[in-house]
Amino acid sequence: MSPRHFLTLMDLSSDELKQILNRASELKKIHRDGTLYQPLKNRVLAMIFEKSSTRTRVSFEAGMAQFGGHAIFLSPRDTQLGRGEPIEDSAKVISSMVDAVMIRTFDHSSIETFAKNSSVPVINALTDDFHPCQLLADMQTYQEHRGSIEGKKVVWVGDGNNMCHSYINAAELLNFNLVVACPNGYEPNKSLVDQYAHRVTVVHDAKEAVKAADLIVTDVFASMGQEDEQDKRLNDFQSFQVNNELMSLANQDALFMHCLPAHRGEEVTADVIDHPESVVWDEAENRLHAQKALLEFLLC
Ligand code: CP
Ligand code: NVA
Repeated sequence: MSPRHFLTLMDLSSDELKQILNRASELKKIHRDGTLYQPLKNRVLAMIFEKSSTRTRVSFEAGMAQFGGHAIFLSPRDTQLGRGEPIEDSAKVISSMVDAVMIRTFDHSSIETFAKNSSVPVINALTDDFHPCQLLADMQTYQEHRGSIEGKKVVWVGDGNNMCHSYINAAELLNFNLVVACPNGYEPNKSLVDQYAHRVTVVHDAKEAVKAADLIVTDVFASMGQEDEQDKRLNDFQSFQVNNELMSLANQDALFMHCLPAHRGEEVTADVIDHPESVVWDEAENRLHAQKALLEFLLC
């Protein structure tokens, strides 16, 4: 039987996603109470990072340790994958020795190829197209602060990037309305938008978009791998900064999220990040709890 992978949120049903989110909050409590819970004793997670990371690496590594298991950090500088060993061969070998593989890479097709050749679950820890683990944490965070997100208005301000694509998937699974406010030329993938057109609208005026929003989310203007576009993007995204003026147009109790790392003064001002309605620190911490719930779901 082929293993269960988590390459996008759409690998879960709506009910499974809700079950993982509720479990994440339970695991958070278990962890905070100091209760020992080790369902993955002697199990091993391989973590392949072809891009930088703070949150993803620390949360997966800490999560495996807390569950009684172990995580192996693999960078392309040290593995044969980095010297051109085919993905197919690497997948067969690595998956024969561990219980799950987490991958952060560039092309989404690379993780799909790895998964096809893996005998154990493969988890997407960010590709150029999707960042589903972050959405587990974001949705857990919304639920913990405001209850169900169903029927709410979520506004994505900025680039139609990997995070934005995963928000489109979340809108479909959790039934919220997503408005993407981005500059011309930076729209999310058209076929994804067309597929979920009943849930997502793409507009080009951030001020108009955020009216009556329950949640405002943004991300860096230039993602990893787009560093050479930074200057052009700074210019193109000028009217897409989340600042106090923009936040004041949303609902009074609207939350602010950012997957981090943030560039204060670019896509978001420091006062918004540090405002009481900003839940970015909870959102970051919830990476740990949400991914533990995911690991338990995939491996137990
Ligand atoms: N949000 C997120 O994925 O952070 P890292 O790049 O630090 O892992
Ligand atoms: N869109 C960003 C997210 C970083 C966590 C990137 O891909 O670099």
